[in-house]
Amino acid sequence: MDVVNNISRSLNTKIIGKTIYQFKKVDSTNRISADMAKKGVEEGTVLIAEIQEKGRGRIGRSWFSPEGNIYLSIILRPALSSQMASLLTLIASISVTRVIRDITSLDAKIKWPNDIFIRNKKVGGILTELSADSEKIRYAVVGIGLNVNIEKNDLPEEISSVATSLREEAGRSIDRRSLVVNLLEDFELWYAVMKNRERDRILNEWKRLSDTIGRWVEVRLHDKKIEGLAYDITEDGYLKIRLKDNSLETVVAGDICY
Ligand code: BTN
Repeated sequence: MDVVNNISRSLNTKIIGKTIYQFKKVDSTNRISADMAKKGVEEGTVLIAEIQEKGRGRIGRSWFSPEGNIYLSIILRPALSSQMASLLTLIASISVTRVIRDITSLDAKIKWPNDIFIRNKKVGGILTELSADSEKIRYAVVGIGLNVNIEKNDLPEEISSVATSLREEAGRSIDRRSLVVNLLEDFELWYAVMKNRERDRILNEWKRLSDTIGRWVEVRLHDKKIEGLAYDITEDGYLKIRLKDNSLETVVAGDICY
């Protein structure tokens, strides 16, 4: 099945997806997007692949990318300071979560930092890769991976107990084309909010969709493990935790358990 067949025709956006490149098989849509961005491709260009042979995940991990899912990258050039870049990942996770909810009625939520979860299993993730100097963003690539129509048996053993797909959760196959169209349209709306520097609107929506805020969490940092109540995120999307002794910690990156 051709995931982006006729997508441009149905897409009601001004910037995001004005140009869409579709590939059958690539190493990584993020890798190719970064190359294209360096060569000056226009803002909003979207790359979609059916299969990735070297899909990239967070913290140097790989992203399992067989046929049947969504793998896409959006090339952006916001005229914003590098400090605003973390908002890109927040708005992408907001849009993915909203669109899953709209199309499937499943109770998708964001697990900090930006994993999309349904019933305690990961269904999608975001990887934003950036070229910036200390002042400004040169370009950003927002990569989105979403498990759509693969079945439980398709998952490799090491992730089969922690990962899922929309099809597994909804009990029916899901139209990838409407997911992509709605996702790009919703992302464009939130991208405008970001460019308007309406940080609070983004943080509030992220918190509304979050599965993490209000939970007792365990975080493994390099040399220690901490436990506490995840009570908020900072304006950069870092997780604020209140420990048992009432001291406060801010976690910048990594994985949490609960
Ligand atoms: C994560 O580790 O949770 C982030 C996964 C991001 C995967 C997507 S798939 C499309 C894009 N291209 C990549 O190589 N990675 C991202």
